[in-house]
Amino acid sequence: MRDSEGAWRTALYGPEGFFTRGAVPADHFRTAPLIGPELAEALLVLLERVDFALGGPARLDFVDVGAGGGELAAAVRSLATGPLADRLRVTAVDLGPARSLPGVGWTRELPAAVHGLLVGHEWLDAIPCPLVVGPHEDPWLDRWWPLAPGRRAEVGAPRDRAWADAVGRVRGAALAVDYGHLRADRAAGRYPEGTFAAYREGRRVPPVFDGSCDLTAHVALDACAEAAGGDRVLVSQRDALAALGLSSSSPRGLTGVAWLEAAAKASRVAELRAPGGLGSFGWLLHGVGVPVADLLPPLPPWRP
Ligand SMILES: C[S@@+](CC[C@H](N)C(=O)[O-])C[C@H]1O[C@@H](n2cnc3c(N)ncnc32)[C@H](O)[C@@H]1O
Repeated sequence: MRDSEGAWRTALYGPEGFFTRGAVPADHFRTAPLIGPELAEALLVLLERVDFALGGPARLDFVDVGAGGGELAAAVRSLATGPLADRLRVTAVDLGPARSLPGVGWTRELPAAVHGLLVGHEWLDAIPCPLVVGPHEDPWLDRWWPLAPGRRAEVGAPRDRAWADAVGRVRGAALAVDYGHLRADRAAGRYPEGTFAAYREGRRVPPVFDGSCDLTAHVALDACAEAAGGDRVLVSQRDALAALGLSSSSPRGLTGVAWLEAAAKASRVAELRAPGGLGSFGWLLHGVGVPVADLLPPLPPWRP
C-alpha cells in the first residue's frame, strides 16, 4: 500500500481521526489500567524503587505516555501516599482531547526531562508504521524482520525512534508495556500476514482508514530495546508483576464482603498475569542512571 504509514496516521490522529475525536480504550477494548487499581499499585512499587535509587529527588515524575483516558495516571496519583506523594508530579501525555483529572497534568508533548518513571502502556502499538509486502527493500526489515516473497510485515522503525526519543528524556526508568513479537519468531515466519489489525467496540473488524476504528500492530519490542539502548531487561508482565508483589492467591480466613472483595482482587490479578493473555505482554524496562538490577530481580527473558 502506498504511504500506508501516512494513511494509518491520518486515520488515528488526523482531524477526523479515531483518537483525535476522543476515542479511549474504555469504549472499544480492555487494557490493563481499566481492570482495576492493581497495575497502578505495582507501578507505584516500581516508582518507589526508582525514587530510592535516585536518592529521593525533590521532584519525582510519573509520566504516562499514550495515556488514553488517563486511568493509569489518575490511579497512580490517587494511590500514592507518604512522603513520595508530596514530591510526585503526575503527567499524562496524549494526542487525544485533554481530560481534567485531579492532580494530573495533561499535555500533547512529552516533557523535555523526566526525573522518575516514564511508562508507555500500549502506546507503541498505536504508532503508525509502513505496511509492506515482501520482497521489500528496507534496512529495518533486513535487521529485524526478514521477509519472504508474498509475506506481510510492519516496519517498526517509527516505534524504535519514538521509544529512543522517550527514553532519552529520562533519568530514572522508562517502561514500555505492550503486546509484541521477537525477531526469532518473525524470521521463522510465525506472522506470515503481519500483525496489523483493526478494532471497533470490542470486536476485530476489517481495517478501514476512515477514523472509524482503532488500527494497531504488535510491537517489535526487541528492536525498540536496541534502539533506545543502555541497561535494560525485556520480561513478561506475568513475571514482572509477581516481582513487584502482585501474585494471585485465593483469599483465606475472610468472610462476607471482605471475602468477596479479596476474591475479586485475586481474579483481577490473575487476569493481569494470565499466560496467553495480559500476562504474556512484554515489559521493556530501561534504567537510566539507575541500574535495572535495583528495580527488578533477575527474571526469565520474555517469550511472547
Ligand atoms: C492503545 S491506546 C492506550 C491507552 C492507555 N495507555 C491504555 O493502556 O489504556 C494508545 C494511546 O496512545 C496515544 N498516542 C499515540 N501516539 C502518541 C504520541 N506520539 N504522543 C502522545 N500520545 C500518543 C493515542 O492517542 C492513544 O490514546
